[in-house]
Amino acid sequence: EAFIDFSANINPLGPSPQVWPALQAALPRIVHYPCPEGRELKEKLAGHLGVPVEQLVLGNGGAELIYALTNFFAPGRVVVSSPTFGEYGRGILHPPMVRIKLDAGKNFALEPAPFEKLVQAGDLIFIGNPNNPTGVLTPREVVLQLASLAGDRGATLVVDEAFMDFVEHDQSVARDVSSHSSLVVVGSLTKVFAIPGLRLGYLVAAKELARNLEQALPPWRVNALAQAAGLASLADSEHLAATRRIVARERQFLAERLQHLGFSVIPGQANFLLLHGRALGVTGEALQGFLGPKGVLIRLCHSFDHLDEYFIRIAVRGRQENEKLVSLIRDFLREKEGQGCG
Ligand SMILES: Cc1ncc(COP(=O)(O)O)c(C=O)c1O
Repeated sequence: EAFIDFSANINPLGPSPQVWPALQAALPRIVHYPCPEGRELKEKLAGHLGVPVEQLVLGNGGAELIYALTNFFAPGRVVVSSPTFGEYGRGILHPPMVRIKLDAGKNFALEPAPFEKLVQAGDLIFIGNPNNPTGVLTPREVVLQLASLAGDRGATLVVDEAFMDFVEHDQSVARDVSSHSSLVVVGSLTKVFAIPGLRLGYLVAAKELARNLEQALPPWRVNALAQAAGLASLADSEHLAATRRIVARERQFLAERLQHLGFSVIPGQANFLLLHGRALGVTGEALQGFLGPKGVLIRLCHSFDHLDEYFIRIAVRGRQENEKLVSLIRDFLREKEGQGCG
């Protein structure tokens, strides 16, 4: 059954059209082991990111590398801003978690002051930029301020840039790893290349750390098909440019329409939006209860720390689908109003 899925944050354009023939061509290669560390893809990705190839580690999705970092560093504590992606700090070690609460009143903007107060030696700090589920983008200067703080205190800062490719004016710090030895950047290619079922991610770290991590992880993590899809996607810069353009346009469309309907919309810069329906008395569960049977999925957010049942995350999709979502939400609100009057 074809659902319209606003709950997962995948490129609304789908994969580059170049990916399908590349996968066809790569199919016979599944009878061989792939290149252990994905050398060709690494080189192309290094060029794309503007970083030395020796700083790159590829992974079977960004999540694999997020887990690997916590396992590898064995940190005294993991420090995160909250709400954020739930996988930070997970792995075999379960280090104590310190959560810095982002202020909803300030639209969940990340500020360095609370980090300055509590970061100590041995901490592994994770921040998402843009952050999931808020979509809030932190300026590069602020991230670098945190990287310097981590360096000064003997801590490490991991910046998860899984959604940075969707941002129009990107604030990536991948190139700053060379000048900040306590900075690690993790990226996901499953979102922007729309291949979550194939899995592909990367990490940028100081050369020695990248080498050590590569040795700590098993070979052949990125399979032959994922390598082929990655190469084909990277070669299609037009698809990437169109993605950024359309996501920016459609994000604005959705934000305006939903605000007009009475939702509060957090000013995110990613391919998804966080909204809340408290003023309308609309919980995520009530809305999903209406949309689900009509084949439309949204992401309820009460499972995120510090978010209540009124918060809802929706992916930015194509115009037709976005119009359908807005129109169904309008129907829901009318129906709700009618019930209130009756
Ligand atoms: C913020 C964030 N980082 C990383 C990931 C991991 O992505 P993947 O393992 O598919 O590359 C996700 C997936 O949802 C995410 O939301």
